[in-house]
Amino acid sequence: MPKNILVTGGAGFIGSNFVRYLLVANPDVRIVNYDSLTYAGSLENLKDLPDPERHIFVEGDINDQGKVEGLLQEYKIDALVHFAAESHVDRSILGPEAFIQTNIIGTFRLLEAVRRVYIEEKLLPLEGFRFHHISTDEVFGELGTDDPPFTEETPYAPNSPYAASKASSDHLVRAYHHTYGLPILITNCTNNYGPYQYPEKLIPLTISNALAGKRLPVYGQGKQMRDWLYVSDHCSAIWEALQRGKVGETYAVGGDTQVVNLEIVETLCEILDELKPRASGESYAELITFVKDRPGHDWRYDIDSSKIKSKLGWQAKETLHSGLMKTVQWYLDNAQWIEAINSEGEYKGWIKENYG
Ligand code: NAD
Ligand code: TYD
Repeated sequence: MPKNILVTGGAGFIGSNFVRYLLVANPDVRIVNYDSLTYAGSLENLKDLPDPERHIFVEGDINDQGKVEGLLQEYKIDALVHFAAESHVDRSILGPEAFIQTNIIGTFRLLEAVRRVYIEEKLLPLEGFRFHHISTDEVFGELGTDDPPFTEETPYAPNSPYAASKASSDHLVRAYHHTYGLPILITNCTNNYGPYQYPEKLIPLTISNALAGKRLPVYGQGKQMRDWLYVSDHCSAIWEALQRGKVGETYAVGGDTQVVNLEIVETLCEILDELKPRASGESYAELITFVKDRPGHDWRYDIDSSKIKSKLGWQAKETLHSGLMKTVQWYLDNAQWIEAINSEGEYKGWIKENYG
């Protein structure tokens, strides 16, 4: 069981949830959280951590190989969980460069730091060390309506610059295992949702726009399909894989909750109507607005999680409805978080300018 864990991107959505999850799930773990605090990362996500003395935040870029090497040695890291990335498909369409720099080159720099410290210079023991790479099902491309879901065996066919950059990082991680014997794990999961998600992705954008009385943009006709994984279920899958996963292997993780986009937006409106009815008496659904479709919009993602279920005994706890209820309630209870995030500026009007 790892004791000193370096988490990259731990001030972002999934990373900060993972930090919280681990601090509670394992009283022996010390976490070093390394994050460059891009628009998507915020110390607001790390307020009121349980047991905060076991969490050390260090601001820095994964491209800074020397700094990473220093942290690995200073804290005798025995597992690295790599979340840091540019993560939004729409931004990758408008400006792919940052995705190449962070997701591909940044991952390469991390791998080089690890190779030097654990393999070349043997400054720390390789025995027991794990490099756990967090990836996405988008590396597999898109499914047709009736295709079977993605599995660990599905060939890579990424479509967006984001997906291509993640596919590239997956290949590098795998190659470092094959070539240098680096003990790696990769998890590829479906769309996450839950607390602390930056309000540019569909679910938090819908909730925050609805609460602000703004329109709810649905791309195209809203018929694309996604499988939704509640973030704490993803965290438990990562932790299971990190402790008991087979070195060199990939685990596909999904929520078994596939649904079309319009239905997600409508369900969120129904939950909001119930939990926080509008003063006008109208439904939030009145705000739904169909907008120009995303270029190259992947039709459907879905994952068959049989391997992680049967080999590691992992199971998602939340249904789509229970997860959405928790998520909406969290955003209602944390209005000041949305305000703090939105007031950082860059997000304002971004979707409107590009998809209006
Ligand atoms: P996010 O955008 O919310 O957070 C990314 C974090 O990485 C931020 O805190 C940011 O500051 C940090 N970061 C970015 N560039 C960095 C750099 N160069 N150096 C150090 N830190 C840097 O992303 P997320 O949604 O939490 O996703 C985390 C990981 O999970 C990503 O690798 C993503 O590809 C993967 N993933 C996400 C989803 C999803 O639905 N959100 C699904 C599958 C896989
Ligand atoms: P998103 O949350 O950006 O995740 P991804 O593109 O990685 O799947 O989008 C989820 C789905 O919702 C995707 O099919 C695009 C669609 N979408 C909208 O219809 N409206 C929106 O405002 C956003 C952000 C996404």
